[in-house]
Amino acid sequence: MMDWTDRHCRFFHRLLTRRALIYTEMVTTGAVLHGDRARLIGFDPFEHPVAIQLGGCEPRALAACARIAEDFGYDEVNLNVGCPSDRVQEGRFGACLMAEPGLVGDCVAAMKAAVGVPVTVKCRLAIDHQDPEPALDAMATIVQAAGVDALIVHARKAWLHGLSPKQNRDVPPLDHARVHRLKRSHPDLDIVLNGGIGSVESAREHLARVDGVMMGRAAYQEPWRLLAVDPLLFGAPAPFASPKAAAEALMPYVARETGRGTRLYAIARHLLGLFHGVPGARAFRRHLATEGVKTGAGPQVLRDAFALVLDSQAGLAQTAAA
Ligand SMILES: Cc1cc2nc3c(=O)[nH]c(=O)nc-3n(C[C@H](O)[C@H](O)[C@H](O)COP(=O)(O)O)c2cc1C
Repeated sequence: MMDWTDRHCRFFHRLLTRRALIYTEMVTTGAVLHGDRARLIGFDPFEHPVAIQLGGCEPRALAACARIAEDFGYDEVNLNVGCPSDRVQEGRFGACLMAEPGLVGDCVAAMKAAVGVPVTVKCRLAIDHQDPEPALDAMATIVQAAGVDALIVHARKAWLHGLSPKQNRDVPPLDHARVHRLKRSHPDLDIVLNGGIGSVESAREHLARVDGVMMGRAAYQEPWRLLAVDPLLFGAPAPFASPKAAAEALMPYVARETGRGTRLYAIARHLLGLFHGVPGARAFRRHLATEGVKTGAGPQVLRDAFALVLDSQAGLAQTAAA
C-alpha cells in the first residue's frame, strides 16, 4: 500500500507473523528501471516471504523489472491491475488494464518467461460500466492461460471517472460472493480475496471458499491483529505473547536504522495502532506524536513510549494471580 507498507512497516509486520506473505507498495517499471533501485526496492532479508508489486503495462519492461526483482531476492512478483489514480491512468496501467485483459495476459506471459518465482496479478471486479461477470471471468481466463500463479481480487469495482482513489477504496460496494463464484468457475486457479476483511477470524471463514485472503487496512491500522495469523491460519505458535513483546523486539532494528540516519517517526508511525484496548495506548500514541517527531528523536523516545503501555499478557497474568 502506497506510503504505508514501506520497508520499516514490513519489517515490523514480520515480527507479528512469520508466515503471512507481505507485499511492497506498488513500484512503477519506470522507477525500477531508472530510479535509485536500492532505495526503492531494497529490503531486509528478515522480511521474507515478501512480494514486490509492479505497476506497468509494457511486457518487456515488466519482464526486465521482474528479473531485477528476482535478483534482489523477492519471493513473488505481482502486477497491479487495480490502482485508479489519474497518474496511473495516464500511464495506461493499474485498474484501466481491466479493459485490456489481452495485454495483461501478454504482461504475465513475459514476466513468467523471465523469472522462476511466482507471478501474480491483483485486479478489481471490473471498472466503470463493465459487467463484473464477464469482465472478471475474461481476466481470470486470460491470465490463467498466460501461466499466472494466483489472481488476487479486490472485491469491488473501480470507477475511473468520477471517484477519487480514496473513494474507490470504499464507495463501490464490496461483492465477496462474486469472488467466491470466480473460484468455483476457475477451480484450478489460485484465487485470493481482498477487500473489507476486518479480522483474522473473518479471513479464516473465507478460506473455506478461496485459496487465500489479503488484508490491507485492517493489517496496517490494527497491526495487533497480525499476532493471530500464525496460530489461526497456519497452526503455528504466535511469534510473541503480546503486542508489547513484539514491539520491544523491534528495538534493535530501530537502533540500527536511526543510527544510519532514518528518522525515528518514519518507523514509529507504523506502530500507532499496535495497542488496542491496552491501558496506556493513548499515552503511547501521544508520546510518539509529540516527542517522536522532534529532530534528533532516537530509540529512547520509543522506549519511553512503550513504558507507558501495560504488557497485556503480563497484565492478564497479574489479574489472574490477584
Ligand atoms: C493508503 C493505501 C494505499 C494503497 N496502495 C495500494 C498499492 O500500492 N497497490 C495495491 O494493489 N493496492 C493498494 N491499496 C489498496 C489495498 O491494497 C486494498 O486493495 C484495499 O485497501 C482493499 O482492501 P482492505 O479493505 O483490506 O484495505 C492501497 C490502499 C490504501 C488504503
